[in-house]
Amino acid sequence: MAKILVTGGCGYIGSHTIVDLINNGFEVVSIDNLSRSQASILDGVKKITGKEIQNFEVDLSNDGELKSIYKDLKDIDGIIHFAAYKAVGESVEHPLLYYKNNIGSLVNILEASKALNIPHFVFSSSCTIYGNVQKLPVDENAPMGMAESPYGMTKQMGEAIVNDFVKANADHQSILLRYFNPVGAHYSAEIGELPIGVPANLVPYITQTAMGIRQELTIFGDDYDTRDGSCIRDYVHVMDIANAHTKALQYMLDGKMQQNCDVFNLGTGNGVSVLEAVASFEKVNNLSLNYKIGPRRQGDVVAVYADNSKAIQQLGWQVQYDLDEMMRSAWEWQKKLSS
Ligand code: UD1
Repeated sequence: MAKILVTGGCGYIGSHTIVDLINNGFEVVSIDNLSRSQASILDGVKKITGKEIQNFEVDLSNDGELKSIYKDLKDIDGIIHFAAYKAVGESVEHPLLYYKNNIGSLVNILEASKALNIPHFVFSSSCTIYGNVQKLPVDENAPMGMAESPYGMTKQMGEAIVNDFVKANADHQSILLRYFNPVGAHYSAEIGELPIGVPANLVPYITQTAMGIRQELTIFGDDYDTRDGSCIRDYVHVMDIANAHTKALQYMLDGKMQQNCDVFNLGTGNGVSVLEAVASFEKVNNLSLNYKIGPRRQGDVVAVYADNSKAIQQLGWQVQYDLDEMMRSAWEWQKKLSS
């Protein structure tokens, strides 16, 4: 049974990925300093899988702290590195916080992978690295755009750092996964996203509005050049994202890598407008959402959705969940959180 180290295992995508890894027979340990997450999410993981996950409460950006647990990280076959900050607005206000945390942690965990001879590494990247794309759907060969924020820059730099690392260390391999818009929750509603403060992302804002925590949702612009004027994104169920990590690791473990570093888009391939996302939420949950149209949000791209054929063909990834299931599960999780 392969043993995987998940960093950020108490976070949103990390916790869902742990569930998928366990369901596929992997053993898992987590490192999470709980700065943006809660250890109680692992209780939810245990309810779903029956497995107690060990979490090391260590700040990965602190070299000494990480080294102090090297002795506990024996026989690890692969690392999935989620631990990072992800709030775009905050990164603009506090760029050094983002560079120190996201880049510092990445360098330290790569050093650990070398010191501990852990050959396989999966890095959480984002479609944000494409910026404003010329050709849709966007495939992995599209050039990187201008990073809109220090957060986006940490993803671009992160990809470069991982690339350089595996180039210089031939016994290491890595897969970079570029997420489009991960939403929804495990169908059991035992785990889901725990947004901090006022959510910046659409789906938690929708569910909090429906719950009455927020008064109304503002749709950021209806005057874009799209079919209904609102922005288009590729929303993808977090359990589908989670499963892609399992498949990426398995791909490396099976010796299928054709080069030391490879990159895959993780999206459904369907562009969905903000108004369509809201309509799906209202329909599947039989609710009427309080929303208004507001001005555009600075930094938003008009439309982005994935060409996901590479992940499908090479990793054998399949998208299992549709938009309605994303919206249904997101609402079930919100109800659980608010109960
Ligand atoms: C955002 C980040 C992206 C990051 C991702 C991480 C920006 C510009 N982009 O993606 O870099 O990787 O989060 O989670 O912040 N919307 C509303 N009203 C709201 C919230 C959102 O209309 O209250 C709209 C947005 O304009 C956008 C869509 O909903 O069209 C999705 O927004 P969001 O969930 O913030 O994701 P992204 O902006 O795609």
